[in-house]
Amino acid sequence: MLAGKLSTITPSYTIGISSKVSELRAAGKSIIDLSIGEPDFYTPDSGKLVAKNAIDENRSKYDLVPGLLSLRQAICDKLERENQVRYAPSEIVVSSGAKNALTNTLMAVLDPEDEVIIPAPYWTSYPEMVKLCGGVPKIVSTEAENDYKLTLEQLKSALTPKTKLLLINNPSNPTGAVYTKEELEPLVDYCVEKRLLILADEIYEKIHFDAPFTSIPSLSEAAKDITILVNGFSKSAAMTGWRLGYTASNGLLAKAMSTIQGHLISHPSTIAQWAGLGVLQDGDEAMRQMVETYKSRRNALVPLLDDLPNTTYVYPKGAFYLFISLTHYRPYLPNDTSFSMAISNRLLKDYGVAVVPGIAFGNDDCIRISYATKLEWVVEGLQKLSHFLKSLEEMAK
Ligand SMILES: Cc1ncc(COP(=O)(O)O)c(C=O)c1O
Repeated sequence: MLAGKLSTITPSYTIGISSKVSELRAAGKSIIDLSIGEPDFYTPDSGKLVAKNAIDENRSKYDLVPGLLSLRQAICDKLERENQVRYAPSEIVVSSGAKNALTNTLMAVLDPEDEVIIPAPYWTSYPEMVKLCGGVPKIVSTEAENDYKLTLEQLKSALTPKTKLLLINNPSNPTGAVYTKEELEPLVDYCVEKRLLILADEIYEKIHFDAPFTSIPSLSEAAKDITILVNGFSKSAAMTGWRLGYTASNGLLAKAMSTIQGHLISHPSTIAQWAGLGVLQDGDEAMRQMVETYKSRRNALVPLLDDLPNTTYVYPKGAFYLFISLTHYRPYLPNDTSFSMAISNRLLKDYGVAVVPGIAFGNDDCIRISYATKLEWVVEGLQKLSHFLKSLEEMAK
């Protein structure tokens, strides 16, 4: 009954964890849920107001497929002001969340068997999206010592005649690492030289704490021409449920994506688009406060990470995740097919703490903790993780 390609698709781990959490809570257990990749803030008031007015003024008919012209113009203004890169509204396609922007891109550029280079650890949906769009994910392992950031050598060794696209997520979900300009430049130059496209998922772009952020298409005209920039409102403006994202790319690609979108969804909800416009017009302060909060949580959590026994972690510079390596504990759970899954299950069952196993991101040594939730809960979760790890050591004695 089902299409053959579904046999290669893994159901979302994160959704699986959420349902386990719900089951345990329904059974009366108290659970600290650190698995959620969703900001614990609400839509900025400016977005709500413009959306409410749009409803009252009946601005809820079909509109242009690539998005409201006023929103696309506001996106261009934002990209020029904040990302130092100029686009025209005809180069923007507004979509139903960044997920939709990613799949529009993949559908527009992939022929069957084309390869997409995905550095691991990766955001859990990338390989499945590539497969669903007919391509082949080419997963490239990266090194903990380099905060799991792709190097030029790793990129070169992954290249084949079938490589079409490099996917870079910066800041990274799950690691919280952020590429510097100096780290991006050689990767991008190489893609320009080899005529590879770059899919730059910059959805966490605003959430970085220590150094200026470099947007890939801002590096050069050549970089801009080969890059499809994906961004959206879910993370930086805490607008997950509105389902609003976009691509910025050259006009040829934008036109192709618009054609695809026209057939598949027409365009995202007009009301959501008005909300997005309101946030671009007057939401900067609200978004800045969210980032300040993430930063102060990050600062409070780093000393606790330092105190976790026999672990290493990626110093969190962006997004709102902690990526912790528990390799040392592998020998204590030798019989499970997935170590990170086994450790996460034990942490949930015995300590009531939900985290995402690294296997969901192509790295079975680690777990991911989200701090897009109350600081006290993350602190308690890390304390419980510490007790758990100490108890594993004790049991092994
Ligand atoms: C790296 C990354 N890209 C894209 C998305 C999808 O964003 P949206 O909810 O706007 O579809 C997420 C959501 O978790 C993400 O972490």
